[in-house]
Amino acid sequence: MNRSKTTAVLALAFGVGVLMVSSQSCSKKSSSAATMTLYDSLGGTAMVSDPANQGQMVEKGYLGIRTIVDSAIFIIAADTQINGYFKVLIGEVTSGNLSGYQRLSTNLSNFIAVATGAKDYTYTGLSMQDAHNPNTNPRITMTVDSADFNEFIGDVAASATKNGLPPDLLARVGTVLYTVEGQVVQR
Ligand code: HEM
Repeated sequence: MNRSKTTAVLALAFGVGVLMVSSQSCSKKSSSAATMTLYDSLGGTAMVSDPANQGQMVEKGYLGIRTIVDSAIFIIAADTQINGYFKVLIGEVTSGNLSGYQRLSTNLSNFIAVATGAKDYTYTGLSMQDAHNPNTNPRITMTVDSADFNEFIGDVAASATKNGLPPDLLARVGTVLYTVEGQVVQR
């Protein structure tokens, strides 16, 4: 892992620690804060115009997640530690076929939206176990190890920071992503 990736992961870990301490020391919450999901904090269900689809509206929370996902895919595609997993996708995009990229963008965005508490989106892709096993998903070249999982999270964190996600929310997104580590890491 290079130094900036290490910094991103450490920043994420630090943020998680701060979050845990602050939530423990906060004994009383207002009812609206208590019912607010991470998805709400990411922008929630407020409708905004969708910059990628002229004339269409999209939930602000979903747009924020999709923006981070799309730029993360580009960061990952350029990351020589882990871009070997994505050979099928990179081959398609290089030859001008964006269908797999669009499907991945939608699947990853829907997965994260649902995982953070979105109610108006559903994830219809493979289970995390099947998505990350070349026997059940020929679009992944090999099973994932723990170092590469951390690298992937570092790339997502870099994308989130680049897109203006504040550190406290980044830490909460990181916590959600780490809940699937046991299913994604299979080597
Ligand atoms: C929190 C961590 C992760 C989440 C939430 C996640 C989620 C997903 C989802 C939703 C899909 C699409 C499944 C489908 O098409 O039905 C996918 C595919 C894939 N994931 Fe992950 N993933 C994670 C980590 C990783 C890591 C660490 C790697 C490798 C280093 C990886 C490599 C891949 C590859 C190569 C594909 C196939 C891409 C394609 O369709 O071309 N993922 N993942």
